[in-house]
Amino acid sequence: MPSSKSSLIKLDRLTTPKIEKLFSDSMTLKQNFNKHQLSSGVYHSGYKGTAALLFFEPSTRTRFSFEAACSRAGYHPLILDGGVGTSLEKGETIEDTIYNIRAMRPMFFIVRCNDLVNLNEIDASISEPVLNAGWGRQGHPTQALLDTLTMFEKWNTLKGKNILFVGDIKHSRVVSSHLELAPILGYKIGFSAPPELLPSVKPQCEVFTKLDDGLNWADAVIALRVQKERHDSENIFLLEDYREAYGLNLKRIQALKQDGLIMHPGPINYGIELESEILSDPRSCILKQVENGVFLREAIIRGLFN
Ligand code: NCD
Repeated sequence: MPSSKSSLIKLDRLTTPKIEKLFSDSMTLKQNFNKHQLSSGVYHSGYKGTAALLFFEPSTRTRFSFEAACSRAGYHPLILDGGVGTSLEKGETIEDTIYNIRAMRPMFFIVRCNDLVNLNEIDASISEPVLNAGWGRQGHPTQALLDTLTMFEKWNTLKGKNILFVGDIKHSRVVSSHLELAPILGYKIGFSAPPELLPSVKPQCEVFTKLDDGLNWADAVIALRVQKERHDSENIFLLEDYREAYGLNLKRIQALKQDGLIMHPGPINYGIELESEILSDPRSCILKQVENGVFLREAIIRGLFN
């Protein structure tokens, strides 16, 4: 396996200059895209090969975002969207699926899978780069990068900023990736959630029992979906109680500073972690995250073989 392979499974090996270069490349791509769209509407790169997008777990944003990013960067995406209609239904393993698709010679892999798959082992066993598009609870590096890119676009730095996560922190791979990214970019992480949704170990994080205290502290708040599908037993808390104590609405969000940011990685459970009225708050940049995600992923893909 060539040591120069630029897979992205975790963020902890990235450096501040590398991430800042990625952010600046993403913003250049955004400016170029806007310019082309306004003039001729033409925006394409020459064909460079195929990319295997293997989504063994459900996704809308991340899959479409990577698909758009591949197309814009000149790679035709070959997509596996869940197991339905594939040989996974006949008992073929995820690993064997990957090795067979690899025989069709895609240039790189983009994989979303559960915790039972060892993405590190798969990455080590093939020579093509592997991009983690959400791996169980372990991490979702491009989501954390697009979140921070969106903050960077507004503040120009993440240094000294406070980012508050509200909601299902325990099951969130987005939080896992932010825990890797925070020391590199110099921001602090806070948690506000009922005890059932907090992880048992809270490494170097402020924990706010009262959401209002957390909102007062935060420069940005990232609400997280209550991930019912990852809860072991029947619901341990009442969603109505959750909404009462931790749900974000226009009244409660007044506690956040004027130039603060309101985010959510999606999909949103409206009426649980967030009321739809929040989208009308000028500090809300949930769809900007989605927009920026394509440029960020395009920048990563364009950098794969440089
Ligand atoms: C998240 C995910 O799948 O990890 N969403 C996303 O990728 N945009 C969060 C979630 O599922 O709640």
